[in-house]
Amino acid sequence: MKILVTGGIGFIGSHTCVELLEDGFDVVVVDNLINSKPEVINSIEKITGKKITFYKEDLRNKKVLEEIFEKEKFDAVIHFAGLKAVGESVEKPLMYFDNNLISTIYLLETMQKYNVNKFIFSSSATVYGAAKEMPLTEDSPLGVLNPYGRTKLMIEEMLSDLSASNKNMEITILRYFNPVGAHESGLIGEDPNGIPNNLMPIITNVASGKLDKLKVFGNDYPTKDGTGIRDYIHVVDLAKGHIAALNYIKPGVSIYNLGTGKGYSVLEMIKTFEEVNNTKVNFVYDKRRPGDIAECYADPSKAKKELKWEAKKDIDSMCSDAYKYFKNSR
Ligand code: NAD
Ligand code: UFG
Repeated sequence: MKILVTGGIGFIGSHTCVELLEDGFDVVVVDNLINSKPEVINSIEKITGKKITFYKEDLRNKKVLEEIFEKEKFDAVIHFAGLKAVGESVEKPLMYFDNNLISTIYLLETMQKYNVNKFIFSSSATVYGAAKEMPLTEDSPLGVLNPYGRTKLMIEEMLSDLSASNKNMEITILRYFNPVGAHESGLIGEDPNGIPNNLMPIITNVASGKLDKLKVFGNDYPTKDGTGIRDYIHVVDLAKGHIAALNYIKPGVSIYNLGTGKGYSVLEMIKTFEEVNNTKVNFVYDKRRPGDIAECYADPSKAKKELKWEAKKDIDSMCSDAYKYFKNSR
């Protein structure tokens, strides 16, 4: 089976390429490298001993996209490509709508034209907005807190309308919780261009001395230690979730939470990182970050029941693999 992986050089996409190749799929990647580095291609090939076909292209270049579909004859598409920085989306909403929505529309139009019906979409727990009841099930109320989240929700709605209009479409929406960690080889991991915004890349930068201190955003939340709680999931587990989704895909739209079901606080993350890596993470308490919620964790039971998938890696390996990659890549 030949799979188009959009955004396949990025953090989650690169780990998914590895799992796909190891499971015998043919992989073609389209990525404009706006948030990733071309060296990742060599690393994917080194880990797997297999080749990928790579096109450095923007999905909004419809003519080129059609040429790629014409040539490659895909069986399925996994769509990771998109911009994902929440703060940036608040400052530049049109850039987010332009990139995330237009690229998805062009991709779906091209799929229709070339009769490719299987589509897996990277959504996010962000579509649950400020939901109060935890854990989150796929039926929890939806809402958005920022333009990035709105692009995810709009695409989910677009997919539902598309499925209603075309019964051949087989669509799976995966709502990721907080992906962290890296491949155990230390060859691929999270390496965003520019200054990181998420907790784990900031922790690795602080531990290594590249950043001075971590600001813990709020210690007055109604949680066990006052800091925010999230459902961190090892990126390799998440990548394997895509293979499970691909093997199970069926007509209509199916939605799954991909998380562990366990929540960890910011302080627990810092402490675990320090222990497993035998290092120090300097931090100070700061005020709450606007738009953050106290806690967010999944009920992943639907994915377990239907996809026969569940996250296996614990918080220790998330912290040690993240740091191993960070040190290896410098
Ligand atoms: P990433 O930025 O590492 O990877 C995305 C890739 O898409 C990058 O390599 C980038 O160069 C590419 N890209 C962006 N716009 C493109 C375009 N128009 N044409 C071609 N390529 C383009 O991000 P990631 O963490 O791997 O996330 C992958 C997907 O999962 C994204 O859609 C993101 O919104 C979603 N997601 C991520 C998280 C997270 O915390 N990492 C959580 C939930 C959902
Ligand atoms: N945090 C800090 N200091 C920092 C960065 C983060 O204390 O410098 C805290 C946050 O307040 C939060 C936790 O660490 O409690 C995790 O924050 P992240 O920024 O790593 O992740 P978020 O849960 O805010 O959001 C991430 C992605 C979103 C996605 C969401 C759910 O950035 O795009 O997970 O998947 F929607």
